[in-house]
Amino acid sequence: MHKLYLFSVWAHILAATIWIGGMLFLVLVVVPWLRTGAQVEAGRFLRETGVRFRNVAWWCFGIVLVTGIFNLWTRGVRLADFVNPDWIGSRFGTAVILKLCVFALVLVISALHDFVLGPKATEAIQRAPRSSEATVLRRRASLIGRVNAMLSLVLLALGVMLVRGVPW
Ligand code: HEM
Repeated sequence: MHKLYLFSVWAHILAATIWIGGMLFLVLVVVPWLRTGAQVEAGRFLRETGVRFRNVAWWCFGIVLVTGIFNLWTRGVRLADFVNPDWIGSRFGTAVILKLCVFALVLVISALHDFVLGPKATEAIQRAPRSSEATVLRRRASLIGRVNAMLSLVLLALGVMLVRGVPW
């Protein structure tokens, strides 16, 4: 059982790293570089790499969720704890609840970005790169992507707090 738990923590951290690293690479490297080049090619590039990264990201969400639940279970957390005020009020319980809430928010924002705003923005850029529609949609998709990148750092911090204690 201990081996399975170690593997689960390893897979959890690996999936979190791939998701956060991939997203930061897009936000900090790919998007700024594309802004310096041809807009139509940028639209195509973002659409094609975006769809590939979207699949990777949703696999990562599935892996962190399954391994996260298993890690909680191995640490003795049971469903009944989520309705126990003493556990919820404990530092560990608070960190878990916060992490689950931020994770749920990330899932909603990612779905909006990946399946609604992102595809709309890349289509508009391909159709008429300099149109006001393309500019508005691109800004929206970009903003929501940045919000997700910030939330990923919050999740990372909450992961560390779960294991090593909260700073408050
Ligand atoms: C994308 C979302 C997530 C990220 C980025 C993330 C990140 C992390 C990181 C980096 C750690 C290791 C912390 C350390 O060793 O100091 C960790 C641990 C942990 N995470 Fe997550 N996590 C995510 C989602 C979840 C979810 C959804 C759950 C629960 C369902 C969860 C439950 C846990 C647990 C229980 C641990 C402790 C593992 C252990 O026993 O050592 N995580 N997380």
